[in-house]
Amino acid sequence: MKAVIINKFGALEGSIIKTGLDIPRPARNDVLIKVKAAGVNRPDILQRQGLYKIPSDASPIMGLEVAGEIVKVGMDVTKRKQGEYVCALVPGGGYAEYVVTNESHCLPVPEGLSMEEAAGLCECLFTVWINMVKLGQLKENETFLVHGGSSGIGMFAIQLAKQLGATVLTTVKNQKKSDFCYSLGADKVVKYDTEDFHNVFKSKKWKLGIDLILDMIGGDYFEKNVDLLSDEGRLVSIAFLKGNSVNLDLSKLMLKRINLTGSTLRPRTVAFKSKIASELLETVWPLLNSQKVRIHIDSVFPLEKFKDAHIQMENGNHLGKIILSLD
Ligand SMILES: NC(=O)c1ccc[n+]([C@@H]2O[C@H](COP(=O)([O-])OP(=O)(O)OC[C@H]3O[C@@H](n4cnc5c(N)ncnc54)[C@H](OP(=O)(O)O)[C@@H]3O)[C@@H](O)[C@H]2O)c1
Repeated sequence: MKAVIINKFGALEGSIIKTGLDIPRPARNDVLIKVKAAGVNRPDILQRQGLYKIPSDASPIMGLEVAGEIVKVGMDVTKRKQGEYVCALVPGGGYAEYVVTNESHCLPVPEGLSMEEAAGLCECLFTVWINMVKLGQLKENETFLVHGGSSGIGMFAIQLAKQLGATVLTTVKNQKKSDFCYSLGADKVVKYDTEDFHNVFKSKKWKLGIDLILDMIGGDYFEKNVDLLSDEGRLVSIAFLKGNSVNLDLSKLMLKRINLTGSTLRPRTVAFKSKIASELLETVWPLLNSQKVRIHIDSVFPLEKFKDAHIQMENGNHLGKIILSLD
């Protein structure tokens, strides 16, 4: 089969398309998917750069989500059939013609969605569900802030938080991204090129503080986030684009009884991911089927042009998801 191989960590030149590779074999509970499209995620960039430790049992090929046709099933598979089209969370290996994943990590392609659209759902929706709903416990009438609102993660966090009945705040770089976030339903977007989010959200309107912050920035955002939280507010960290060393004023933690937590999806167990998949099927898939939650595709590149897809993500001007097509 054909796949993107990392020959040397770092610059894009170190990764190449290679043909003649062995097609992976599904284990007892796995399915083999012929990939039609694969989502590009920021962790792929980190993996290519050698900055992301992949689990020891995962494929070294990049790619955490796909859509495609099940062409083979393992001997203990009961829920999925050969010939079915699915979207799936994969443990790695998505930038390839074929990939294996556990049958329970496959979800149906939502009604009316193309394979490219379906390919961009799983990594971000699993992550948002775990961190915003399960760890973050977001509830109706609460105030929620997600940084990076125009990212793949931000796009789904804004829409799902609105569905839960929260007031949604976000931060972005510029006007184009701000317009995009308002179109997704955000109540207030701060453009950090011209405004300081801490000053804006400290204002009278949100003086009781923010109940939940989903943060991918870290660095100097951390202290500002902690200061903005309400009594018993929650801060959930999923990345640290501005650095993982932060300053914490413990008195704020104590006085406001703040809850600090975070998580990373890839090393979680098969059983945990299967549980999240069932919860998504029950709660979020109906919203996708009825188009109450939508995916916005920024751009689609053929697999052979994966370098252009990575450049597009690293330039940081995209809205929503970037996809690789294998059709
Ligand atoms: N913990 C987990 O399980 C998990 C799983 C998946 C993804 N993630 C993380 O979630 C984040 C979003 O992922 P994604 O795939 O949706 O990526 P993405 O679309 O590239 O989003 C990254 C966002 O970060 C913002 N940003 C702010 N400061 C930045 C900086 N210094 N450098 C780069 N971007 C900056 C960008 O928006 P502006 O241009 O508006 O600043 C951009 O929208 C990534 O950091 C990723 O590693 C975590």
